[in-house]
Amino acid sequence: MEKVIDGVKLNIPCHVAIIMDGNGRWAKKRLMPRNFGHKAGAKILEQVCRDADELGIKYLTLYAFSTENWKRSVEEVSGIMNLLRDYLAKCIEDAEKNNMCVRIIGDRKALDSDIVAKIEELEEVSKIYNGLNLTIAINYGGRDEIRRGVKKLISDVKEGKIDDDITEDTIASYLDTKDIPDPDLLIRTSGEERLSNYLIWQLAYAEFYFTDCLWPDFDMDELKKAVRYYNGRDRRFGGVK
Ligand code: FPP
Repeated sequence: MEKVIDGVKLNIPCHVAIIMDGNGRWAKKRLMPRNFGHKAGAKILEQVCRDADELGIKYLTLYAFSTENWKRSVEEVSGIMNLLRDYLAKCIEDAEKNNMCVRIIGDRKALDSDIVAKIEELEEVSKIYNGLNLTIAINYGGRDEIRRGVKKLISDVKEGKIDDDITEDTIASYLDTKDIPDPDLLIRTSGEERLSNYLIWQLAYAEFYFTDCLWPDFDMDELKKAVRYYNGRDRRFGGVK
């Protein structure tokens, strides 16, 4: 989709994935505990969703908690889980207000049952909305997602539900992201330039944009910078133009 942004016609990526990094450093700069940074990071989520929608982005996928994040201190993990509880509850209102369809990807088995119940309620309530498609990755790891998908695929082949002629589309249909197009643009904040096990299958052809901005400082200007960067890239998908 093309859109005029600040007087310039831009090609808007359909799907933007974000690694929201730098909350800890944002807090440290203020001599505050890490969870203060996570709280600030959670606070900007509604505005980021509205900004993405305003720009014409259709899918936004955010990395909230990875399968590796359990290694953090008990205090930090429980702080993030509590923020998630609050966020998921508020997101039910945000979804209605901002016409958002919300999905959660990742392995729910390790999450507390009240969080799983909130996720199910949010997905059910928001599935009728046709504005921004927001996906939040919670207890998500790309390798773990592929492992879970392959396990299910093998069991379906064994039970004769599908034949063993496995295509790339078959594998994609066994991932948590089965109904979501692949991301066009990945944004990682805070200056780190790693994938950290995020959407490793789905990001095969995405453009990567890294910014020093720490996540709690991310705003519309930063999002526009990323979209302008995306417009400077020549996407060939392995072919020649
Ligand atoms: C990375 O910053 C951030 C996380 C591991 C968690 C992201 C969490 C939030 C934005 C808030 C909670 C989310 C929701 C959906 C309520 P970091 O801690 O790795 O920062 P650092 O690299 O500066 O230490």
